Amino acid sequence: MKLTNKIAVVTGASSGLGKALVELLVKEQVKVFALARSIEKTKFPTAVIKIPLNIRDLQNIDQAFDLIDQKTKKIDILVNCAGRGLVKNFEDITREEIMDIFGINLKGNIYIAQEVYKRMILKKYGHIINVISTSGLKGREAETIYCASKWGLRGFTESLKLAAHAHNIRVSAVYPGGMKSENFWKIAPQQDISQYMDPILVAKEIVNLLKSDYSILPSELVIERN
Ligand SMILES: NC(=O)c1ccc[n+]([C@@H]2O[C@H](COP(=O)([O-])OP(=O)(O)OC[C@H]3O[C@@H](n4cnc5c(N)ncnc54)[C@H](OP(=O)(O)O)[C@@H]3O)[C@@H](O)[C@H]2O)c1
Repeated sequence: MKLTNKIAVVTGASSGLGKALVELLVKEQVKVFALARSIEKTKFPTAVIKIPLNIRDLQNIDQAFDLIDQKTKKIDILVNCAGRGLVKNFEDITREEIMDIFGINLKGNIYIAQEVYKRMILKKYGHIINVISTSGLKGREAETIYCASKWGLRGFTESLKLAAHAHNIRVSAVYPGGMKSENFWKIAPQQDISQYMDPILVAKEIVNLLKSDYSILPSELVIERN
């Protein structure tokens, strides 16, 4: 399927996977709304519409979608890439960190999905992709809270997939393994990320998923290095 002239919303678009994905979607002639807190500082081709967004701020979410509604009457694609890591012993994690991880990785992505879903229902068409993690498929001892947020996002995604079917909306879960995103790994400078995947490779797989015929392919993608 060609993506030409499709309209996409990408969260977490200011760095790592989200940024790489926006750049690939532009090459596919997709009109992209790129969302993140620091998006104004991010360099993109001029066609990309940058919208500053803190997904922990409900008022800010409404403002962002007001701006999107002023520019388009339909959204074909949502890719939820916004996320924050946390590698820390459970006993040392603060309540603020727990609220932040759940606020971004789980609640924030759900709020955005709901805004887009309501608009997609009206058109009876769309594809929502939630970027989860292999930490949403297994437990990791230093990632208790991060894993919990990603398992939650996985449960949401699997359930939304069932609800969305009646509205001709496709919902996919993407589970990447470790990616070489410098911003993401600032939280754990000791982590050796040299062998991790380039986010561009994962972004390419997401574009392939967006182009695929969903009556044939599974709506789920686990991407790990060999
Ligand atoms: N890196 C890995 O090894 C890895 C592996 C598996 C899955 N993942 C997942 O893949 C996704 C992308 O990660 P990445 O590696 O590309 O990390 P990244 O480079 O740190 O990107 C994270 C993005 O999320 C945005 N973000 C963070 N907090 C936000 C908030 N409160 N409101 C709005 N946006 C916010 C950041 O933008 P601002 O700071 O500008 O807001 C940034 O654009 C995340 O969901 C992550 O959990 C990462």
